[in-house]
Amino acid sequence: MSSAIASILIVDDDETVREMLRDCLVSSYRCIGVSNVKDAIELLQIDSFELVLSDITIQEASGLELCGFVQEACPSTVVVMISAMTGIDCAIESMRYGAFDYIIKPFDLNRVKLAVDRALRYQQALEEKHNYELALEERVKVRTDELRSVNEQLNQMLDRLYQNYRATLRGLARTLEARDIETRGHSDRVVAYALALGNRMGLSASDLISLEQGALLHDIGKVGVPDSVLLKPGSLTTDEWVRMRAHVEQGLRIIEGVEFLSGARFVVGQHHEKYDGSGYPNKLKGDDIHIHARIFAVADAFDAILSDRPYRAGQSYEIACNEIAAGSGTHFDPSVVSAFMSISREEWNEIRLFAQQNFGGEQEASKREIDSFILSLKSPEAAKLQALCA
Ligand SMILES: [Fe+2]
Ligand SMILES: [Fe+2]
Repeated sequence: MSSAIASILIVDDDETVREMLRDCLVSSYRCIGVSNVKDAIELLQIDSFELVLSDITIQEASGLELCGFVQEACPSTVVVMISAMTGIDCAIESMRYGAFDYIIKPFDLNRVKLAVDRALRYQQALEEKHNYELALEERVKVRTDELRSVNEQLNQMLDRLYQNYRATLRGLARTLEARDIETRGHSDRVVAYALALGNRMGLSASDLISLEQGALLHDIGKVGVPDSVLLKPGSLTTDEWVRMRAHVEQGLRIIEGVEFLSGARFVVGQHHEKYDGSGYPNKLKGDDIHIHARIFAVADAFDAILSDRPYRAGQSYEIACNEIAAGSGTHFDPSVVSAFMSISREEWNEIRLFAQQNFGGEQEASKREIDSFILSLKSPEAAKLQALCA
């Protein structure tokens, strides 16, 4: 019971019965009597009662309907039916409508008191259960909020870890570039080109991560190639070529055993294979070359053609396209070439710009920025929309 004195609504069209019940109960409870179901419903909507004592047959409406209403609208209120009908069917019907008890007229007032007392104890238990559920709900809500906040912190930590891990990989790639092996920013651009191609070809998120790692580290094995070979201005002797080509196996040895770099092994180990089987070190052919390495080959060539080299200036976009098209089926996988051709010149420019601004700057791009970059490659409209709504 919510208050010290419980409230009882007495519903009976016989005034004598109402008075009798009130006189019997009023010393212990707040009692209000009404003569019909309509008034009872109106009162239940504006006042709260622990117990409804209701006749079954009340003028036009049935007390059972009132019982049904109480079940729906006031789940903490208990109903006890009163009736002159003595049949078991009537009692069963009352229970079916949700009544807690059933008293037969004419009634013994002591039995009425006992029934009311029992019903109110049950009502108190109901209310305690209800309050317990409310408290439980509140505790669950508080815990959910706490978990949400911990989850948020974890996500931020993961994002920082991701940035640190990318920064480490890029540090390795820059170490190679510092030896003048490739033009500055080559690995950043190749990563962006390879991601764009991989995304266009429907690679999964985990494949894109492996492709990114492989593209960043593709020439990691060159750290073992001596300067006299690596930086030699003229053409290489046969022995020097052997040492140069060994950078592929050396690269695989470097990343071997580093679990989080295991996805990079396809590009590192196969980035000099050619689609027609004329590449090295294993002369792999066609689909025997991993898709990451086939994608990488186009991305790497694209950047190499566009970039300035000591012996020639960077070539135009048209020349790059012609060379890539000419290599389709020999150097390159035709399906990667057609994915390359399906991306417009403007999109390639945007991708190049993104790589320079986000991968090459002092500030590492966050996972969210990279995710939205990848999303933008999927659908530029969706990404623009997302940016507007952010
Ligand atoms: Fe290489
Ligand atoms: Fe390269």
